[in-house]
Amino acid sequence: MIRIAPSILSADFARLGEAVRLAEKAGADLIHVDIMDGHFVPNLTLGPQLVAAIRRETRLPIDVHLMVEKPREFIPLFHEAGADWISIHVEATAHLHKDLSLIRSLGRKAGVALNPATPIETLTEVLHELDFVLIMSVDPGWGSQSFIPSCREKIRKLRDRIRAEKLRIPIEVDGGIKLDNVEDIIRDGCEIVVAGSAVYDAPDPAEAVRKLQAIARKMS
Ligand code: DX5
Ligand code: ZN
Repeated sequence: MIRIAPSILSADFARLGEAVRLAEKAGADLIHVDIMDGHFVPNLTLGPQLVAAIRRETRLPIDVHLMVEKPREFIPLFHEAGADWISIHVEATAHLHKDLSLIRSLGRKAGVALNPATPIETLTEVLHELDFVLIMSVDPGWGSQSFIPSCREKIRKLRDRIRAEKLRIPIEVDGGIKLDNVEDIIRDGCEIVVAGSAVYDAPDPAEAVRKLQAIARKMS
């Protein structure tokens, strides 16, 4: 099953409720929320209160992508705010196993995010502890960047690795996904499509979600 996760980073922050509701109505599967701390990435975005506010606007699962140093300190806050899926960066913690266990102990889905230059081998020892993997296909920090082509090979390698281990761990891909490259990326092994600017910079965001969802259904 291929899921579509619009990223509200590219939405109008003064109208987040509307942005989330239109995505849900148009058939989105998850709402992707980017949390940036100004340290792990050189940008600042939202915090747990905003996630709690979004929680009240939608029944869809909220997929919180933590681009923060010391993610462990924030995991309980986002859990309380209503995050359903929580991903932490392998580059941001020295205690990956412990942090993933914390997410799972709170009953949330635990994911690891990898920056473009981080090899998939960093996941070897925790693969069995994961509910999903998030492959960054841009250097995190901003929306509307171009997809880094070498990430396609990385997605394929990870897909093959997961299959070889007979695991069922969906691969989420985040950054630079548009209507004209999404099919290739799904073919490579992406099962959760994050789309920020492709949705919210489109003239008709709901139509963009519907088009992505039609591709997802066709390829599921
Ligand atoms: C980037 C964020 C992404 C961002 C993607 O650091 O993690 O989720 O919203 O935006 P697009 O789809 O425009 O590349
Ligand atoms: Zn993201």
